Amino acid sequence: MYQAPRGTTDILPDDQAEWAEVRSVLDRTAANHGYQRIDTPIFENTDVFARTVGDDTDIVEKEMYNFRDRGNQQLTLRPEGTAAVCRAYLEHGLQNTPQPVRLYYVGPMFRYDRPQAGRYRLFHQLGAEAIGDPSPTVDLEIIQFARTMIDRLGLRETVLTINSIGDPADRASYLDALATYYKPKLAELCGDCNRRYTRNPLRLLDCKQVTCQTHQANAPTTINYLGTDAGSHWEELLAHLDSVGISYTIDPRLVRGLDYYTRTVFELHPSIGSSQSALCAGGRYDGLIAQLGGPPTAGIGFAAGIERIILNRRNQGSSVPKSDSGLSVLAYNGAEGKTRAIILASELRAVGIPIILAPERSLRAQMRYGSGIGAQRVLILGSNELAQGTISIRDMATSQQIEVPLEHIRSAMQE
Ligand code: HAM
Repeated sequence: MYQAPRGTTDILPDDQAEWAEVRSVLDRTAANHGYQRIDTPIFENTDVFARTVGDDTDIVEKEMYNFRDRGNQQLTLRPEGTAAVCRAYLEHGLQNTPQPVRLYYVGPMFRYDRPQAGRYRLFHQLGAEAIGDPSPTVDLEIIQFARTMIDRLGLRETVLTINSIGDPADRASYLDALATYYKPKLAELCGDCNRRYTRNPLRLLDCKQVTCQTHQANAPTTINYLGTDAGSHWEELLAHLDSVGISYTIDPRLVRGLDYYTRTVFELHPSIGSSQSALCAGGRYDGLIAQLGGPPTAGIGFAAGIERIILNRRNQGSSVPKSDSGLSVLAYNGAEGKTRAIILASELRAVGIPIILAPERSLRAQMRYGSGIGAQRVLILGSNELAQGTISIRDMATSQQIEVPLEHIRSAMQE
């Protein structure tokens, strides 16, 4: 038998209420913070990601689903949303509208990752981007958006970690210090880190190998090497967070796995001391739009994985009550009953009453079907009802049954 491809999942009807709730919390929180929805294609030209996320990142090196289409275009199933949203911002001239532009999105993303709990190859992200304003007040707004959304989703004891990785222009002295620290340790680092050492040393802080992680603890920290502007941006952001009472932990090792970040980076984790991966993550990317060929433009955003949100909600025991579909099932007997039932079902649907025909079986089996699918009511057009021009209505919760003249069915159903 076929199975869904490794790292993908089906979102079954029973899961849909929880997914809908997550999306609705996102919509409400976005509206609350003045963000408008954007949808971009699920594939883009490969360069959109390769140039921005970075050649030496795990995503670009190992995880992208790349393909050539029949016109020989090199395309990639999007591994993330930020670069695509920035491409759309430039393509549609959104830089000519009042800045910052506040956008949010939700949709499938694709990474050839090693599947495990909360980590998939096809997963869904919801995210937000504020493009065109370098002010730390916008950093605060984005963090507040993420924080509020995670809280509204009922996730308890999540921890905000935050860091500043400064501006690329100020990074030379930091990278020197990092190289001096790591040089004598190269033999103990993994092959990837040996490559990172020469090509992209900041990534040394992002390696997940245990031996490499032990060396990360004493590595020089970016915060001690911030330039003047990045330093005051950082101080101002911390003051803003304090002023609105958002608590945070400064994590000097947090650099994030994508190359486009500048200054602020942050993550929201499930609970204190948890080794679990981030629920939600983001940061500032003031160079990204220029990397895509646009004018220098500031930006900041975050994204969260819906599967991971739902996994953590369930781990915490939260459940969404099944919403009552209000669905009725129409049971009938014989050929005449079937003809009447077809017409009646379409009349009732036309006035907004949700109803389906029972499968063609005995009346008793049709009743069982109604109860099996959790119908609110079963309407019965049996031989007696047909002879008398009536219809029976059985309330499945109370098992009470009434019989009404067929012409009164609508009002009886709307009671
Ligand atoms: P990211 O850290 O790569 O950042 O992903 C953000 C979130 O997506 C993660 O915290 C996690 O919840 C979810 N996620 C990532 N990979 C997987 C996976 N394989 N399976 C399930 N969930 C996953 C970004 O994507 C940036 N675009 C965030 C951002 C927006 N930065 C600025 N704006």
